[in-house]
Amino acid sequence: MYEKIKETAEWLRNRMPNAPKTAIVLGTGLGQLAERIEKLLCIPYSEIPNFPVSTVEGHAGQLIFGRLGGVDVMAMEGRFHYYEGYTMQQVTFPVRVMYELGIKTLFVSNAAGGTNPGFKIGDLMIITDHINYMPENPLHGPNVPPGPRFPDMSEAYSLDLIAKADEIAAKHGIKVQHGVYLATQGPTFETPSEYRMFARWGADAVGMSTVPEVIVANHCGIKVFGMSIITDLGGTDIPEKVTHEEVQKAAQAVQPLMATIMEEMVKTV
Ligand code: HPA
Repeated sequence: MYEKIKETAEWLRNRMPNAPKTAIVLGTGLGQLAERIEKLLCIPYSEIPNFPVSTVEGHAGQLIFGRLGGVDVMAMEGRFHYYEGYTMQQVTFPVRVMYELGIKTLFVSNAAGGTNPGFKIGDLMIITDHINYMPENPLHGPNVPPGPRFPDMSEAYSLDLIAKADEIAAKHGIKVQHGVYLATQGPTFETPSEYRMFARWGADAVGMSTVPEVIVANHCGIKVFGMSIITDLGGTDIPEKVTHEEVQKAAQAVQPLMATIMEEMVKTV
């Protein structure tokens, strides 16, 4: 795999119009941030050697090189989810390539179901830590250099970046929650009992992404900052139906606030 990572990085390096140190994974909730990026080059994933091939129609995805608030960035518009059938190595391949290209900081976002009873739909949550409840760890298998075999995860989400985000949110009068993000394999949303169980485990929000990328970023020594949009609530005594459409709608509404925080965050690193 290491050879493939090197090969893809080399291919991109020969085409990159800039040399970003910052990367952004534009998950649910950060689509609008893509519009704020001054684009220098967009490459569909299908054209990038060794990149996972998307199987879902209308979910093609592309890699963007450009500037956000005057800062050079690389952004993934669309990510690979484990539930789609990709292996963990495929899901995290782009992060490995980012490291080879010189990325030092990674910004991630997602939509998540709130399990913290104090949360409301539309809340923004700064991810302070995670629980990997996916069936596999992306580092399973031969160790990929230069990361250690047994990487530390005591600060998977940079405390320094969390403090900066708090300052930015306060400056703009944007209310943010803090919490632990638990990742499941999906694609099912949780049963009421599962939501309750996750809450007892210490999770504040549940989703189906992000954790693999964050583990690999930490393995590579890339600093991470992440945010979730709370799009639905589970684990209360009254079971509530969750639909993909509702999740999209709730995420849409608070997108501009998350985009504002992320845009300013990029300027601070
Ligand atoms: N559970 C899992 N993933 C999700 C949820 C949820 O409630 N909401 C958005 N993504």
